[in-house]
Amino acid sequence: GFGLKSEFIGRHIHYEEKVESTQKIAHRLATEGAVNGTVVVADEQTSGRGRMDRSWHSPKFSGIWMSIILRPNLPPHQAPQLTLVTAVAVVQAIEEVTGLNPQIKWPNDILIDGRKTTGILTELQADADRIHAIIIGIGINVNQSQEDFPEEIARIATSLLAASGKTVSRASLMQEIFVRLEKLYLTYLNHGFQPIKLLWESYALSLGKEIIARTVAGDIKGKALGITDEGVLKILQEDGEVRHVYSADIHLGE
Ligand code: BTN
Repeated sequence: GFGLKSEFIGRHIHYEEKVESTQKIAHRLATEGAVNGTVVVADEQTSGRGRMDRSWHSPKFSGIWMSIILRPNLPPHQAPQLTLVTAVAVVQAIEEVTGLNPQIKWPNDILIDGRKTTGILTELQADADRIHAIIIGIGINVNQSQEDFPEEIARIATSLLAASGKTVSRASLMQEIFVRLEKLYLTYLNHGFQPIKLLWESYALSLGKEIIARTVAGDIKGKALGITDEGVLKILQEDGEVRHVYSADIHLGE
């Protein structure tokens, strides 16, 4: 059998060969009362979704395309912290299984040698004061060869195989993610964001560097200082003002 090592994450796994998006199925299952830790996973997605209305290329058997349903008893404004908890868990799992040294680009891209291997998309079912369910979508490029990526993303994307030269077992990596995420999630619930923040910062790619944050309201330029206790990015502008960035795409500046 699968030999599950985690207690609740992955206890219920809803597997499909081919879906439009595991997020879509997870949303439906969450509405129908799926328990905390339920996982939806597919071998292929025909319309995988990314952040900011982008699509996510999810070819058959090449990656981990999954959505995890969690039901924390928290207000919705803490959801971004859970995204950072997840990013740390996935980085640790990738390190453990492949020996690679991935880094996190705020908020939740995981890069190896500057190229993206993983994206995380968190979506909420919530009212004003409580999260009913958080749907954490994780997409990991695992066994694509570098030539397999479509032209538009070939220069910015990579896979664990392309980066390490070794085929990686998707089942082992998923297993490791469940164990790590469960541990960090409980740390977060019991001890707050501080321990997670320290871990996150130890994996962060652009701290101390000059960056440009592309937000819907325009670009913010300056030095990335770190994240706040809420998980919000702090940027020190040239004029000395510290700006807080809630949502953006980060580019390295000059
Ligand atoms: C991003 O970096 O833009 C986030 C990408 C998230 C992709 C994953 S794959 C599994 C889950 N289902 C989806 O449709 N999207 C997420």
